[in-house]
Amino acid sequence: MNTLECIKTRRSIREYNGKPVDRKLIEQAIETASYAPSWKNTQVTRYIVIDDEAVKNRIADECCSSNHNGGIIKQAPVLVVTTMIKARSGYERDGSFSTPKGSGWQMFDCGIATQSFCLAAHELGLSTLIMGIYDTDKITEILQIPETQEVAALISVGYTDLTGVEAPKRKTLEDLIKYV
Ligand SMILES: Cc1cc2nc3c(=O)[nH]c(=O)nc-3n(C[C@H](O)[C@H](O)[C@H](O)COP(=O)(O)O)c2cc1C
Repeated sequence: MNTLECIKTRRSIREYNGKPVDRKLIEQAIETASYAPSWKNTQVTRYIVIDDEAVKNRIADECCSSNHNGGIIKQAPVLVVTTMIKARSGYERDGSFSTPKGSGWQMFDCGIATQSFCLAAHELGLSTLIMGIYDTDKITEILQIPETQEVAALISVGYTDLTGVEAPKRKTLEDLIKYV
């Protein structure tokens, strides 16, 4: 698969078939994602890989019960939680912000890394779903995430039997581009 094809054929998948995922594949996707660019190469993204059913179910029940994400997490054999090391990306050494975007660059970096992970997973035959709706305080408590880090996104990972999942409609180039 070439890069253009990989970007265009990756889909958010919400149905998994129960086949377990080898940790080596997750590690390969994370190692690949480590090549994502970041603010001054600060590399603030970290990955918590949850393949323990009990922990995964706890997150589904206690952090995502108010929406459909809980059911997806229960089905997926692996849940990856991305976190960000705070106060580095977008910051000067003295702790002040480098730009008016403040701490926004850490989420930007983590987003790039998260998509890189999903694309690498896709190339490795795995399906993923990025989830942004969850109870932050509860997941921080369950995973004992230190004060120095902050949860960014949840990513379900697994195999699917779904084929030919259509991409939700995209905006046209006309919508997207402005030449000046
Ligand atoms: C930051 C972010 C948060 C998202 N949160 C959720 C979520 O909580 N639940 C969900 O089902 N999908 C979630 N999605 C998936 C989007 O709905 C999906 O990417 C979009 O509809 C486009 O579909 P595609 O990924 O197949 O191209 C999220 C995607 C992103 C990038």
